[in-house]
Amino acid sequence: MIDKQILKDNYRKHFGAEEPRFFTASGRINIIGEHTDYNGGFVLPGAVDKAITMAILPNGTNYVNLVSLDYDGAALFFEIGGPQPKEQWASYFYGVIEEMRQRGATVGGFNAVFGGDVPLGAGMSSSAALESCIGTALNALFNLGFSKEELAKIGQMTEHHYIGVRCGIMDQFASIFGQKGKVVRLDCRSLEYQLVPFNPKGIEIVLIDTMVKHTLASSEYNVRRAQCEEGVAVIKKYRPEVELLRDVTMEELEAHRAEIDPVSFKRCAFVINENKRLMAACAAMEKDDFEEVGRQIYAAHEGLSKEYGVSCEELDFIVGIAHKHPEVLGARMMGGGFGGCVIALVREEGVADYIADVKKQYQEKFNKDPRVIEVEISDGAREC
Ligand code: GLA
Repeated sequence: MIDKQILKDNYRKHFGAEEPRFFTASGRINIIGEHTDYNGGFVLPGAVDKAITMAILPNGTNYVNLVSLDYDGAALFFEIGGPQPKEQWASYFYGVIEEMRQRGATVGGFNAVFGGDVPLGAGMSSSAALESCIGTALNALFNLGFSKEELAKIGQMTEHHYIGVRCGIMDQFASIFGQKGKVVRLDCRSLEYQLVPFNPKGIEIVLIDTMVKHTLASSEYNVRRAQCEEGVAVIKKYRPEVELLRDVTMEELEAHRAEIDPVSFKRCAFVINENKRLMAACAAMEKDDFEEVGRQIYAAHEGLSKEYGVSCEELDFIVGIAHKHPEVLGARMMGGGFGGCVIALVREEGVADYIADVKKQYQEKFNKDPRVIEVEISDGAREC
């Protein structure tokens, strides 16, 4: 989390002496269960100690005045109910406000300075952190009475309607519901969830950022989603009650292989298998069998790379190196894909070697440095 004093100083500089309130919301990791959320499946994310934090107060007008420390102190304002700002970072505010208004809320103008330490483009959901932070702040400042679940949906719909990404609910849910030391085992269809302690003895979570920005991510993301829907549409002809891939078995999908475009078939098969891997990983976690969790994580990467087609050379390379280190129990790309970072579960004694090896080989092959991101599983959105 960035220093609140920095936010406060900037708030005072731009908006005067009043004492602002502070809100924060985290980025997330995901142990396993990728691209399952919008298919109604399960995910296993956790909020982390990298967050977007905001100094904010109502200003009694109908205008929103923003200062973004992540964009070199860029400042802008827009009118509530007016046109959407062109800047994407301001569109998150605009979108959250519009989504709240559509749900009947009256949101007043405010002044806000925000910034964070969630690495951008690393697949750790800096955007969900921002949406969750805005939602949590406005809910408190204007006594809107939205539940945490509604705030997560408001964030998700901001992405759909104002950013153009038809994302699932995982990122916003994790950012809002996350708790220190626990991962969220979320059923993305019913939104039932359990907080599962995650602190395997002697094993660390290592994140290595490829430093490749996922430019394809939003367009290809929507394509993947459409391919899953295509599979569902075929099955639905035979079983009209089927709404989501979550309800389809591999046998059923196989039975209709000839009717589904081969690429879409592969995508659907991935999702069905990924959901099974998540179940297997959860069962293994209950027995403290992290070797098995690791095997499922490796298998997830295979699927993400070969079947779902959302990996890239750099991600595959870092996962490939992991296979040569026995202390790495499992490694895979994390998040939407096409760049961003690898998450690996590594025995403590092997962490330094694996990181050193990745750094050396990555530099030789791609002529750039990967970034190691240290995280701890932490609390989600809150006033701070
Ligand atoms: C992005 C989306 C999530 C989820 C992941 C892939 O992070 O925002 O909803 O679909 O990709 O698991």
